[in-house]
Amino acid sequence: MSVVEVPPPVTAPTRSGHCRITVRGRDGRETTFDVKKNDMLLKAAVEQGIDYPHNCRVGVCGTCKTRLVAGRVSPMVDLALSPLTNEQIEAGFVLACQAKVRSDLVIEAKLGNGTQLPVKTVSSRVSQWQKLPGDVIDLRLTLDEPVAFNAGQYCTIAESGSFTRRNYSYYDVPPTGDSAGAREIGFLIKRLPGGKFSEWLFSEDRRDTKIWVEGPFGIMGIDDLDRDGLCVAGGTGLAPILSIVGDRLRRSKTAKFTIVFGVRTANDVFANARLNELLAEGEGRVRLITILSHEPAGSSWTGPRGLVTAALTPELGVDFTETAAFICGNLGMVEAVERRLLELGVQPDRIHADKFVPSGTP
Ligand code: FES
Repeated sequence: MSVVEVPPPVTAPTRSGHCRITVRGRDGRETTFDVKKNDMLLKAAVEQGIDYPHNCRVGVCGTCKTRLVAGRVSPMVDLALSPLTNEQIEAGFVLACQAKVRSDLVIEAKLGNGTQLPVKTVSSRVSQWQKLPGDVIDLRLTLDEPVAFNAGQYCTIAESGSFTRRNYSYYDVPPTGDSAGAREIGFLIKRLPGGKFSEWLFSEDRRDTKIWVEGPFGIMGIDDLDRDGLCVAGGTGLAPILSIVGDRLRRSKTAKFTIVFGVRTANDVFANARLNELLAEGEGRVRLITILSHEPAGSSWTGPRGLVTAALTPELGVDFTETAAFICGNLGMVEAVERRLLELGVQPDRIHADKFVPSGTP
């Protein structure tokens, strides 16, 4: 196992078996917390409610990149194969989700604005198991205790007694006000041929099955609520987009949204009911563009065709230099959209991406 090390920091003594983590933020602000020696840095931080940037938690997306200023960590992945560039590795960057803490650390990371909610594990029962077009199931769970989450976040779910876990984004709008959280949550789950959880879920009606839920995880840009949003969803990447747009419509009186939703064919368009609800709730502030990548030539479809990137042109009617962008879908699609949006002039720090990573990714 490799080790990334720079001379250790001098810090006040911590509890035995623990290491002190000092995070230097972008504004010079310092945040400190303690973790058990050999714990994974990101997991330990998020479990304590630290607003640490992260998304996939499996070393793929690069969101948790962290510069090691002092101290020692053991990376659990080969950094040369990670999303970090050679320049970043040479500058001392590691992935917090894959860094085992070996000593006190001083690190640089862009902590969020303190809105990370505590991660909870709760039991639930399947209250709705509904097949939708496009080989998608609308799965709703009734929770035994309420869970708070932010729009665009995800959780890990597993059948009670099984070790097979999968991550899915909430499609609901998070409850607001004094609520302790949601009592019911829903997910849009695409069939993944050969996928253990997916095959189990699709094989029969799973209503009343006991499911464990752990979360919330991930951060999808929660500030700047009055800024207009361009939302690009590939397939079930629509789930976090429904949550984000619904939430922002309620929290801003002015923000407008363009949703570009990509599926294969007209017969694969799912979640029409929820999209129509959103369009009605938006009262003219939400525009939906559905684009089909594999619609047979000569069909009655009159809308746009191609990959979602084909819809991202100067003619889209979006002020790319001002918009916030939310992109959700598989890794390749999200990266292609990110590149396209940068070409069109979207500010890099206004691009929020949720890259779906297949299960089994180490
Ligand atoms: S690489 Fe660490 S959260 Fe994605």
